[in-house]
Amino acid sequence: MSRTWWKESVVYQIYPTSFMDSNGDGIGDINGIRQKLDYLKSLGIDVIWISPMLESPWDDNGYDISDYRRIQKMFGTMEEYELLLKEAHERGLKILMDLVVNHTSDEHAWFVESRSSKDNPYRDYYIWKPARDGKEPNNWGACFGGSSWEYDEKTDMYYLHCFSKKQPDLNWENPTVRAEVFDMMDWWCQKGIDGFRMDVISMISKDPQFPDGEVTNGLYGNASPYCCNGPHVHEYLKEMNEKVLSKYDIMTVGETAGVTIQEAKKYAGYDSSELNMVFQFEHVEIGDGRLGKWTTSRYDFMELKKILSKWQRELHGSAWNSIFWGNHDQPRAVSRFGNDAPEYREISAKMLATCLLSLQGTPYIYQGDELGMSNPRFENITDYRDIESLHAFQEYTEAKLISEEEMLECLKLRSRDNARTPMQWDDSANAGFTSGTPWIGVNKNYPEVNVKAELADENSVWHYYQKMIAVRKAHLGLIYGAFTLLEDEHPQIFAYKRKYEKETYFVACNFSDAEAVLSLPEEFAAGCECLISNYGRETYEDTVKMKPYEAFVLKI
Ligand code: GLC
Ligand code: CA
Repeated sequence: MSRTWWKESVVYQIYPTSFMDSNGDGIGDINGIRQKLDYLKSLGIDVIWISPMLESPWDDNGYDISDYRRIQKMFGTMEEYELLLKEAHERGLKILMDLVVNHTSDEHAWFVESRSSKDNPYRDYYIWKPARDGKEPNNWGACFGGSSWEYDEKTDMYYLHCFSKKQPDLNWENPTVRAEVFDMMDWWCQKGIDGFRMDVISMISKDPQFPDGEVTNGLYGNASPYCCNGPHVHEYLKEMNEKVLSKYDIMTVGETAGVTIQEAKKYAGYDSSELNMVFQFEHVEIGDGRLGKWTTSRYDFMELKKILSKWQRELHGSAWNSIFWGNHDQPRAVSRFGNDAPEYREISAKMLATCLLSLQGTPYIYQGDELGMSNPRFENITDYRDIESLHAFQEYTEAKLISEEEMLECLKLRSRDNARTPMQWDDSANAGFTSGTPWIGVNKNYPEVNVKAELADENSVWHYYQKMIAVRKAHLGLIYGAFTLLEDEHPQIFAYKRKYEKETYFVACNFSDAEAVLSLPEEFAAGCECLISNYGRETYEDTVKMKPYEAFVLKI
């Protein structure tokens, strides 16, 4: 396995609207990010992925782009973006751009042209179909509710939108569309960005038959089998690689909903000439039910171990993993996989950091996770801003698939807005995020959970993250070492070895709020070095009685 910078990097994701507001309009911006570069550098991260900051009518918080070459006004100007790049580079930090090219906004000039007439040169940039029996071309449901097809009166046809109706899907079968996208990517590479996080890139090739999907929620057919990992996706990515990616020393990560191991090896195989790595979602989808993610059931720990181990084992030697607990589409890591009750929030956040930063693959830290930020548990539907949450609430309660009270409970656990509340900088008004009114409510726990308080406390979650990042960087074995699962059947502990050249590491994480008994592997019981422990444990004998959410990394 060859060494490369993107395998050895730790990535930090910024959700720009909620990171830092520099001008008091209640929305984070580029100058806010610039103010915090030293903060990020001191944490020890290498790469910053910033969610979209391009011109957009903001139907899906910027994942609906109307101009790929202009900065969204509320974030600042292109000059400020260029300064951000320069100042990041001066500090040795790299910047990944979010590339959203499965769809555009319906306000993008291409779509405005496309919908204007059937013989417009841009018509074929999107996916248009005639009605079937006077109705939608098939039964597919869109990710944000309703049908995937929107009727357009002007030309009496439907266009496909896998997400909201303001996010029409591009027609990647059209070579001109691909050329336009590659040209735009090249333009950004020329500007000096360091790579791309590719939004729902597994969805760019659709099944040409457009067959009906299975109806599981009583409303619409499931389009995923016909939109994810479609017939030409690898061909298109190889072309993208040849025409753009291969020309620059950049890093790429694909968001690949529905990806299997076999598919991941095609996207991110060492010799596949497509992407560097992909995000798989199996572990964050554990426990999804009849209404998909809208459930109050907790994840099954045994399932989590199985999934994480499978990805570790099966990509080793052939493709590179990416490791994450959360992002802007997921609830807060500590609320989902740890425990956000006051007595366990910090210790379980440290446990999750230990695990995240000791697996093979590039780790991604989502903003605020380094503080152990938790779900805000909004009480009212009016507190939510996210299009997915609002549409699901309306659609499912109106169809009486779930009561309003139950749906609010589901939102408290699973809504994307859980991760989108403002970053908590200090204990002043609005957590120091803005001097104005924040676009979404601040988590009430900000007087205790904030950057200022955590920097001042050497036992904070923040300092633990800083230390664990440093531990990872100082030990190549934690980056490249082969993974072996231990204690397979243990119902509380996730334990594994990492082996690299002459070194062996042992990691144990107690994912429960109860004590758990662990037998140390023989070679470690005989004597080892502790690289980090979230309880400050000093002695390690054959049997370790692990405390709630205890975690440590040992080395021989
Ligand atoms: C991705 C993004 C998500 C967005 C969707 C549509 O999943 O992460 O935020 O809503 O794609 O672009
Ligand atoms: Ca602002």
